[in-house]
Amino acid sequence: MSKRSESRLEEIQNLEPSVDEFRADVIEGLSETQKTLPCKFLYDERGSQIFDEICDVPEYYPTRTERLILERHARDIAALTGPKARLIEFGSGAGTKIRLLLRALERPAAYLPVEISREYMIAAAQDLARSFPDLTIAPVCADYTQPFTLPDIPEAEHEATLGFFPGSTIGNFTRAEAVDFLKVTHDLMGSGAVMIIGVDLVKDLDVLRAAYNDAAGVTAAFNLNLLRRINRELGGTFDLSAFRHEARWNEELERIEMHLVSLRDQEVAVGTHRFRFHEAETIHTESSHKYRIEGFHQLANEAGYEAIEVWTDEKKLFSVHALRARQES
Ligand code: AVJ
Repeated sequence: MSKRSESRLEEIQNLEPSVDEFRADVIEGLSETQKTLPCKFLYDERGSQIFDEICDVPEYYPTRTERLILERHARDIAALTGPKARLIEFGSGAGTKIRLLLRALERPAAYLPVEISREYMIAAAQDLARSFPDLTIAPVCADYTQPFTLPDIPEAEHEATLGFFPGSTIGNFTRAEAVDFLKVTHDLMGSGAVMIIGVDLVKDLDVLRAAYNDAAGVTAAFNLNLLRRINRELGGTFDLSAFRHEARWNEELERIEMHLVSLRDQEVAVGTHRFRFHEAETIHTESSHKYRIEGFHQLANEAGYEAIEVWTDEKKLFSVHALRARQES
């Protein structure tokens, strides 16, 4: 018996950001005039769990709307891709959406999840390995906003490459960053690859605001958990009851911003560093850019992709795009 038949879960490629990188980014961000913290650090193990809870709150429409679109079009996606594809997922999370694609694809060659939250990714990959015993799974723990390489899996020869970037996570990038990121995925996957990407749409502001400020306070807990993480991992002294969550619509940039608002004048230490907060001063913790379909097509085009399909729900809340990586000229 070959070793592969016992388990096809490959060694994890580990590029998880270190505590030192976390500290450096936090100190840099809190030193700016508009204090900021990179949103990728929202996803420690607890943060990933709270994010999963967000996906189920009634006001947060993106997850369930995207799932509906994917359910309706999984076969279309499989037809665009062809057999024996390697499937690369950027920001794999709990791995519920990928099952829809894996079931629809014809003899998928391999699944390569790329995810920053390591423990979380391992658990999800093990789960998936049980459901798809014949599938080679090669997880990569990496911050995909930084350069990384994909594991080479010679035993899983592929005939096509399918990228998957769901959840409108692309919305966390500014438009310029989104172009850069898509270029990176183009280089990683090669021309001809198909990229399936979930993109949240500009819509009624009350609907948008409610999605990021749910009545049960799950999004608030998600946002505040970042301060708890700083306290735990970096020796921070944030008083979580001295900050509150706020979701703002930035009209000019067409994005929702999450902030943590200081409820009073205060000083907070992070290790040996000290930061002053005025009452009402904020830390900007996340941006969630919303797109119009035309605008997103333009952006994809700039990054070397051709828009080949777009699917939406009846209410035009959310869109799922199929792009093809053009031949570089
Ligand atoms: C995972 C980045 C797509 O921006 O909607 C949800 C994260 N933040 N609620 C989003 C999030 C607050 C989410 N993304």
